[in-house]
Amino acid sequence: MQSPKPHRRVRIAVFPVAGLGTRFLPATKTVPKEMLPIVDKPLIQYAVDEAVEAGCDTLVFITNRYKHAVADYFDKAYELEQKLEKAGKAEQLELIRNVLPPGVRAVFVTQAEALGLGHAVLCAKPVVGDQPFAVLLPDDLIWTRQSVAGGAGALKQMADHAERTGGSVIAVQDVPPEQTKSYGIVATEGFDGQAGRITRIVEKPKPEDAPSNLAVVGRYILNPAIFDLLETTQQGAGGEIQLTDAIAQLLPLEQVDAFRFHGTRFDCGTHLGLIEATVRYALDHELLSDAARKLMQNALDEMGVVET
Ligand code: UTP
Repeated sequence: MQSPKPHRRVRIAVFPVAGLGTRFLPATKTVPKEMLPIVDKPLIQYAVDEAVEAGCDTLVFITNRYKHAVADYFDKAYELEQKLEKAGKAEQLELIRNVLPPGVRAVFVTQAEALGLGHAVLCAKPVVGDQPFAVLLPDDLIWTRQSVAGGAGALKQMADHAERTGGSVIAVQDVPPEQTKSYGIVATEGFDGQAGRITRIVEKPKPEDAPSNLAVVGRYILNPAIFDLLETTQQGAGGEIQLTDAIAQLLPLEQVDAFRFHGTRFDCGTHLGLIEATVRYALDHELLSDAARKLMQNALDEMGVVET
């Protein structure tokens, strides 16, 4: 018997990067949050690598008029390339040429006003058209181990699932009860430990009102029906057009699954999350790992001595 025909594979990834990044001021006064580095790459590069690995070949960046740095980063740097070439620095040349691998195109769309994540996603409609698409929030950095899920990134795991179901897929992770008030929390039916259909989504509930401890994190695969819903979504929490509100309206119309990915997510939109990700990636870095471990130990020893 033939296996069922897979549904359309997601090929377009949307990166909403037009937020103001107020939690990282003053750093983000001139440097967009998405350009903050984790060891040797900016946050946006990790998200782009994850999308390309999942099979996306069109990347849509929703930016604002102050965020030239993001577009500049993905542009060709002729002068720098020439200098590196002349100096015989092949390795570095390769690194800057591969910020966008061959065959992958970048499209930039301006969000004129920061009206919220839902509005930022809606700005991608003219490019996305009538096909499923991914949304990645680069400040949610997801680290996957080579030994788990074949080393596949979170978005690839989700794209494989979406190809089987044809529905929308939203990444979730378990959070402790005291943290439900910081997330969208989902209720599901038929959750098998990895995936289940979402029946309800509640924005930032108190622990006693939370329908589960499955929290939405910044990876989505959405069917284009979401655009019609976003067009009529009113301002919600914080006066912003919320993606969560449009997803809540999508639930009775079509299958939207919660997907508990394999991987560790760092909330790099917060100071501690950014620090934690830096520590983890440094300890995992093939060249820096040993030295990083030593300097962290030294810092702990020295600080310990100072405190006593
Ligand atoms: P955040 O809630 O993290 O907001 O947005 P922010 O402005 O980036 O950061 P803080 O809270 O002020 O420190 C979640 C994602 O949605 C994008 C952001 O760039 C981020 O990737 N976003 C948010 C937009 O693209 N446009 C918006 O109008 C709002």
